[in-house]
Amino acid sequence: MSFRILTPQEAASYIKNEDNVGLSGFTAAGTPKVVTEALAVRAEEEHAQGRSFKVSLFTGASTNDHVDGALARANAIDRRTPYQSHKDSRNAINKGDINYFDMHLSQLTQSLRYGFFGDIDVAIIEAADVTPEGEITLGTGVGGAPTFIRLAKKIIIELNKSLPKEIKGIHDIYEPLDPPLRKEIPLYKPSDRIGSPTIKVDPEKIIGIVETDLTDNVSGFAPVDDTTMKIGENVIKFLKDEIKSGRMPHGMLPLQSGVGNIANAVLGCMGKDDEFPEFEMYTEVVQDAVIDLMKQGKCKFASTCSITISDEVMKDVFENIEFYKQRLVLRPGEISNNPELVRRLGLITMNTALEADIFGNINSTHVVGTKMMNGIGGSGDFTRNAYISIFSCPSIAKGGKISAIVPFVSHLDHSEHSVSVLITEQGIADLRGKSPRQKAEAIIENCVHPDYKQLLRDYLNLSTNKAHTPHNLNAAFGFHNQFNASGDMRETNWADYVK
Ligand code: COA
Repeated sequence: MSFRILTPQEAASYIKNEDNVGLSGFTAAGTPKVVTEALAVRAEEEHAQGRSFKVSLFTGASTNDHVDGALARANAIDRRTPYQSHKDSRNAINKGDINYFDMHLSQLTQSLRYGFFGDIDVAIIEAADVTPEGEITLGTGVGGAPTFIRLAKKIIIELNKSLPKEIKGIHDIYEPLDPPLRKEIPLYKPSDRIGSPTIKVDPEKIIGIVETDLTDNVSGFAPVDDTTMKIGENVIKFLKDEIKSGRMPHGMLPLQSGVGNIANAVLGCMGKDDEFPEFEMYTEVVQDAVIDLMKQGKCKFASTCSITISDEVMKDVFENIEFYKQRLVLRPGEISNNPELVRRLGLITMNTALEADIFGNINSTHVVGTKMMNGIGGSGDFTRNAYISIFSCPSIAKGGKISAIVPFVSHLDHSEHSVSVLITEQGIADLRGKSPRQKAEAIIENCVHPDYKQLLRDYLNLSTNKAHTPHNLNAAFGFHNQFNASGDMRETNWADYVK
C-alpha cells in the first residue's frame, strides 16, 4: 500500500477536540516535531472562533518544544501524562490550565490497555522508515509507541529524513500480555533481545506520512561545577567501597542513571576514575556522558528507552551506527523501566532528589510542596525495586536560601523504605539497616550543608514524645513556612513552633 503524503496542517486536521493523542518518543528523542506544531496553530484558530479545542496527550516521557511547548502555549492540552519538563507546560500545569497526572512511566501503557484513560484516537509516530506493508522502524526513542500504535484508531507517521535507515536493528520491541495471561518477561541480562526490531501495523490505520528532517535538538547540560563534581566523586566513592567490601556481585551490577545535570555529571566522573570498573547499564535514558563512556570502553552495553544526546554526539552515533548497535538496545518504556526486570537484574539506581528529609523520604517533583517541577518519571519504577537505590542532590538550592534537606519532605515520591543511600556534595549517608533516628543522625552529620546542620540537630530534639520517628508535627514544615514567609530557610526559629 502506498501512503498519502500529508502536510503537517492536513495531518493535524484529522485530530479532533477532546481526542486522546499518543506520541512516540521518550524525552526529545524520537518525539514528533511538526504535526503537533500544526495542531497548536489549529487550536489557536479554533479558540479565536470561540470554540474549545484541547486534546489529552500521552507520551513516553518528556517531549520537546514542538510538543509540550507549542501545545501548552496554545492552551491545547486538557489531560497530560505521564511526564513533562518544559517550562511552558510546567507553568500551565501550575496555573491549573493542564490537568496533569504524574505517573510511574512503566505503568502508562498498561493503564491504557486496561482502558483506564479511554481509547487512543490518534497516534503520531516519528519513524526512520515505514514499509508499504506497515512495518515501522522507530527513531531514537521508543516510549509508549508500540502500545499507542496498536491501540490507535488512526496513525500519522512523521518520516524523519535525518534518521539513517540503518538504525533498524537497534530497537527491541516487546509488549507484555495483560493479567491474568501475563508471564515473566524473558530478559535476564541488559543485552538480551526478546522482541522485534520493528513494529508491524495494519497499513489501513496509517492515514498518511508527513515528511520532516528536524533533529532531536537535545539541549546541552550545565557544565560540571564544584558541587556536581563532588556529588559525582561521592557516588563513585560509595560504589567503590561497596566493591571493596564484597557487597557488589560480579564487579558491578547494571547501573541506572536518572536525567539532568547531576546525573550527567555523575556519569562523567565515572569516566575520569581509572579504578572504576567496566559496567553495563539498564536505564531509561542514555545521555551524552554514556556515549563517551562507550567510546572509552568503560560502558560495555546500555539498554535504554531513548538516546537523548546532543545533535553533535548524535552525528557521531549515526556515522558509527554499527558500533553502537553492538552496544545499545532501545526498548519500550514498559520494559526499560519494568519493576520485574529492575529487581531481577539487581540494578544500582542513581536518581536525583529535589528535596530529601532527615529520615530518607524523597520529594522528586514538587517545589516547596505545591508547584510541579517535572514529574516522578522513572525514578519510582527503579528506586522501589533496586538492588541499591541512591539519591543525590546538592545540599542547598537558590544560593543557600533553600536547604534540600528538610525535617519532613513537602511532597512524598519515594518513601524511606525504598531509599538505600543519600549523597550530597557534603558526603554520603548510608541508610541501610538504620532506624529513623539513626538515619536522621547520618543524614544531618554527612549530607546537610553547614548552614543548616544545627537547625536540623535542634529539630530532632523538638519531639516532645518518646517516638520511633522523632517528629514535631507543628514544626515539621518549619523550613518551608519560613521560605514562604521570608524567602530564606536559614531564618527558621524553632521557638516559633514550640511556644
Ligand atoms: N527546592 C526548590 N527548588 C529546588 C530545590 C529545592 N529543594 N532543589 C533544586 N531546586 C531547583 C534548582 O535551583 C534548579 O532551579 P533552576 O532551574 O531555576 O536553576 C532546579 O531545581 C533543578 O535543579 P538542578 O540542581 O539543576 O538539578 P537537575 O537538573 O539534576 O534536576 C530534578 C533535578 C529533581 C528536577 C530532576 O532530576 C527530576 O525532574 N527528577 C524527577 C524525575 C526523575 O528522577 N527521572 C529520572 C528517572 S530515570
